[in-house]
Amino acid sequence: MASLNDIRQPVEAEWKQYERLLEQSLHADNKLQQEVLRYIGSRRGKQLRPLLVLLSAQICNPVTDKTLRSAVALEMLHTASLIHDDVVDSSDTRRGLAAVHTKWTNKVAILVGDYMLAKVIGLIAEVRNIRILEIVSQLGRSLSSGEMVQLHVGQSMWIDEGRYYQVIEQKTAQLFQACAEAGAESAGCTLRQRTALREYGKALGLCFQIKDDIFDYSDLEEIGKPTMSDLRDGKVTLPLIEALRRAPQEEAAHIKALGEKLVSMPETASKEEKESETRILEEIKSFVLRFKGDEYAVQQMVIYKKQATEALSVFRDSPEKRSLLLLLDYAINRVQ
Ligand code: IPE
Ligand code: IPE
Ligand code: MG
Ligand code: MG
Repeated sequence: MASLNDIRQPVEAEWKQYERLLEQSLHADNKLQQEVLRYIGSRRGKQLRPLLVLLSAQICNPVTDKTLRSAVALEMLHTASLIHDDVVDSSDTRRGLAAVHTKWTNKVAILVGDYMLAKVIGLIAEVRNIRILEIVSQLGRSLSSGEMVQLHVGQSMWIDEGRYYQVIEQKTAQLFQACAEAGAESAGCTLRQRTALREYGKALGLCFQIKDDIFDYSDLEEIGKPTMSDLRDGKVTLPLIEALRRAPQEEAAHIKALGEKLVSMPETASKEEKESETRILEEIKSFVLRFKGDEYAVQQMVIYKKQATEALSVFRDSPEKRSLLLLLDYAINRVQ
């Protein structure tokens, strides 16, 4: 698998400019806000989204100032949504460090996330491109709706595959799509190129989230966030959905009953309850692996990879195109 450094090669000089602008943007006057932003800046994630913005621009034309601002804005939007997501999901670790709400409080996490979103608006205002503004505004609504649907308030947690795709399209694929589209727009790509990049971005995003959902059933330490936590939070994802579909009815009903018990358990449980929680999680995990729900999810990624690759067929071979293809492999084979 190519490393992110290799994939960045065609936009290496532009990446340095992006990093400088990101550094400048992680600034606040308020002392506490500044402290939190410094903490966030100290452990960057993989920064796939800005890389996608830069490559999507440069596959058509040279990167512009609009490209760099869009890249920073979209990475900040993503990071803010993770800070909020960890509150929503009660998830304590992020990027191998304590999540913002764990190190400080929920209130601090919400306010710093808001501050970053306000910065995003400022950056996009500086881009002065109405289409990029529309892309980002639509994206903000979609991310929030995707997370909201996932809360399944008043509805069954046992979603089917169709509903699953609706959620991951909104909460993840649209962000990748927006990065590809904003990149294309910022460099004046043709409509045909922009449409191709949009399709590529969406399929890449679906692969990316399916992989993340497979991670939740894995034992990888490198991930830098908890595993077996989605179901604990009432999130039923593709590996489990498929295992339930494949299993005999009675066994599926048993697993569903266990899942419901798990979700109803209090977070501050007694030692016995914690042990029972661990047993349930182990049972559900081995159920998923036994019915090969994880393998099915891998097969789905292969289908989306093919779609993404086909979308790029409108482009001639170039270092940027090769990097976009490698990014797909990275999304599917990554361990982080
Ligand atoms: C995490 O995204 C959220 C998902 C869409 C699964 P990343 O795995 O890209 O997070 P960072 O930015 O690299 O930490
Ligand atoms: C993706 O969902 C997060 C957002 C799109 C905000 P997850 O809840 O699966 O992401 P992780 O696993 O916490 O990174
Ligand atoms: Mg989460
Ligand atoms: Mg996840």
